[in-house]
Amino acid sequence: MNEPAVNEIESIQARALEAISRAAGLDEVEHLRVSLVGKSGEVTRLGESMRNLPKEERPAYGKLLNGLRAAVTDALEARVLALRAEADRAALGAVDVTMPGSPQAEGSIHPLSTLLDRAVRIFRRMGFALAEGPDIETEWHCFDALNTPPDHPARNELDTFYLPDGRLLRSHTSTVQIRVMESTPPPVRIIAPGAAYRRDEVDATHLAQFTQMEGLYVAPGVGLADLKGTLEFFFRELFGAGTETRFRPHFFPFTEPSYEIDIRAEALGGRWMELAGCGVVDPAVFEAVCSARGDRVYDPEIVGGFAFGFGLDRLAMNLARVPDIRMLVENDTRFLKQFRP
Ligand code: PHE
Repeated sequence: MNEPAVNEIESIQARALEAISRAAGLDEVEHLRVSLVGKSGEVTRLGESMRNLPKEERPAYGKLLNGLRAAVTDALEARVLALRAEADRAALGAVDVTMPGSPQAEGSIHPLSTLLDRAVRIFRRMGFALAEGPDIETEWHCFDALNTPPDHPARNELDTFYLPDGRLLRSHTSTVQIRVMESTPPPVRIIAPGAAYRRDEVDATHLAQFTQMEGLYVAPGVGLADLKGTLEFFFRELFGAGTETRFRPHFFPFTEPSYEIDIRAEALGGRWMELAGCGVVDPAVFEAVCSARGDRVYDPEIVGGFAFGFGLDRLAMNLARVPDIRMLVENDTRFLKQFRP
């Protein structure tokens, strides 16, 4: 075969591969692709000039030309991949892993939530489930069903927030006792943390909205001993081994007998603190539930129970040394930021 033609193809290939391997960017590779194997590229034009060769030389020449085209195309492709890999490496290399990150503002946990979480965990261990009820309640759930007569001072408009339709903002979470028994047959063992509302002059120790945690345990044979055991255990778990508990006789319409609970604990400053109301569920409450349910599963001759309720706000304030109850609800970040998780 024609010597000069072979030489020409070889020298074109050598030049092309050399240029491709030196191409410094994708643009340059593309430029080379067009000028070599594009429509009017050098290699393409060689193919067209094949017509001028003697017939018998064409097949061998065509074969050479195909080899050239394949070598150039492969080299172009390889160069593109190499350049992309290089760019990736450069981009990654530009990440300085020792550079400090941009700081994220860290949230904090409200002292009430901290206390609530701890209390819920302790009651869970004793088999209490979480229950809830609405903040806007009927008078029946808030008072009548809880054996609270119409002339009881808690029902006074000056003490309670009534809505125009006769409903009210619940003045205690004891409403949840009734709601749970209405919807669930015994045995029930629940705690119900939530907001309660009373008309109060707002000052450093009073808010019109506060947080309570209700408890109710109803099953055959449950009574005062269970109440004392449960609450003494709870307060010892919450405030530590040396915690003293005092049950002081009191009156609530919905429990009989009724007590107020005082606590003395190092964690609370070592002073006696009035914390909770509690008692053995009054048979009149079970009767109200029975008539609402239309059955006798809460017959006071069959089941017994105890209930308790305590305020969380003052407790949280004591534990976190918060001097003014309003700080709990003002959402001032300077206050909130002090309680790192
Ligand atoms: N509901 C009462 C209060 O708000 C507390 C209480 C709950 C008392 C359950 C006895 C039983 O003061």
